[in-house]
Amino acid sequence: MDKADVLILGSGGAALQLAGKLDAEKNVIIITKSFMDHGNTSLAQGGIAAAIDEKDNSLFHFMDTMTAGRFVNNHQAALQLTIEGPAVIRELIKSGCAFDHDAFGKLTLGKEGAHSLNRIVHGGGDQTGKILMNCLKTVLPPNVKVMEHHFAFELLINVSGHCYGVRTKDKQGNVQTFHASHIVLATGGCGQIYSCTSNAETATGDGMALAYFAGAELADMEYMQFHPTLLYINDEGKGLISEAVRGAGGILVDEKERRVMKNVHPLLDLAPRHVVSQTIFKQRQQGHEIFLDIRGIEHFTKKFPFIAKLCMSEGIDVSEGFIPVAPGCHFSMGGVKTDTVGRTTIKGLYAIGEVACTGVHGANRLASNSLLEGLVFAKTLAHHLNTTAPYSHKDDGIHKKNLPSDYTLPVRTHLQKRMMDKVGIFRDIDNLEAQQKWLESFSLNRWHTFDIGMLTTEQITTLFMLQTAWLVTNSAIQREESRGGHYRLDFPAERMDWRNQQVIQKRIDEKRKLHEPVKT
Ligand code: SIN
Repeated sequence: MDKADVLILGSGGAALQLAGKLDAEKNVIIITKSFMDHGNTSLAQGGIAAAIDEKDNSLFHFMDTMTAGRFVNNHQAALQLTIEGPAVIRELIKSGCAFDHDAFGKLTLGKEGAHSLNRIVHGGGDQTGKILMNCLKTVLPPNVKVMEHHFAFELLINVSGHCYGVRTKDKQGNVQTFHASHIVLATGGCGQIYSCTSNAETATGDGMALAYFAGAELADMEYMQFHPTLLYINDEGKGLISEAVRGAGGILVDEKERRVMKNVHPLLDLAPRHVVSQTIFKQRQQGHEIFLDIRGIEHFTKKFPFIAKLCMSEGIDVSEGFIPVAPGCHFSMGGVKTDTVGRTTIKGLYAIGEVACTGVHGANRLASNSLLEGLVFAKTLAHHLNTTAPYSHKDDGIHKKNLPSDYTLPVRTHLQKRMMDKVGIFRDIDNLEAQQKWLESFSLNRWHTFDIGMLTTEQITTLFMLQTAWLVTNSAIQREESRGGHYRLDFPAERMDWRNQQVIQKRIDEKRKLHEPVKT
């Protein structure tokens, strides 16, 4: 059994920022299920939003964040994000992060959907995530040990309900136990529960399912952001085409070169993401093909080298000026409920980055606020853990039941396709309930009682996707209105009586009622 002061699950931007800011005398272990940089952060093209321009102000950034979030954001979290953003960018620059500058040595600031000003910092054109990861990896101190290919499949919870450790499986299937004073979920999102997604293969909702099985509260799971422009070929999403392309002048058109966003929203192609995604989805349903017309962007390949390469690898010649696009699942605004420090409802367990839900994004995340979220809240949590005495949570030696022989799990592609069709951009009660029934046919209310370490990591991943899909579906059933990333055809408007209600889910012991959603 290994011991640490702080155990971090996941190895994206939030995880590395936290690890790098913890005191040097702390014994820190990062556990990650794949290679260190095989997560969503490395794929991030868009950039990091922060009010660093002299014409800008954190309050403008705050207002844009609230407007995109349809005003249900946690105000304190949104203020923390936008006020602390500029300092985080300055720290990264100081530690050598190679953000893009203009010919006069000034930071280049891009514009993306629903931002009132240019405030997006990029690296390598469209390779901000990669640049950020390289920087954070380089400055990792020696007290941080990274264990790749360790899949965390169980959070250890004692009879007092405190989290004191984790069980993992390595590549060979060996089970290992880790104990720690503080366990931090930084496992990222769950885009892979949908068949069309911009997310990395590793984004399978692991942290959300782990926390739910452990008895933590999750919030806002119905709010799912669909990015308007994934490269779309032969009915498959092939990767993200950054909103920065529209920021640089790219225009959405149909097969007859008619502008798609004309008369839909005053911000046209840079309208909030849910508006653009819904519009493209409807147009595609009516049989239109949608393209990003990039003919107006000079030096496209130089500005967007990663996207140009991606298109080329899929047989699209960007010099012809049209990229076929469709919306796909991009970001989960919901997650494991935390306060603005990162504490979950389980003592000893914390969450940061996309797996967490501070409420900072409300019903829809503003573009380029996600890397910022990871960086800002990881820094806050580091400060908290650096000033908190180590705590030894008791191990009561609770053991789970052996896995029964009659379990079944879905075929993953079937699960993903069903989520896209029934819990996608447009939702209604019939599809949601059909999906809920189907998901529950896999005995979801029993799994947390079994020792799932007996399954392969592939099977556990499918189970985690199934559980996370259920959380999204069940929350979407609860919210009887449309807001941000949640659109109900049967409740198509925002409703005042829902404005102050958050859908919170928590597993309730089998002696009580299972899966009972709680509205606050
Ligand atoms: C994008 O580049 O369009 C995505 C950036 C983001 O989601 O913030």
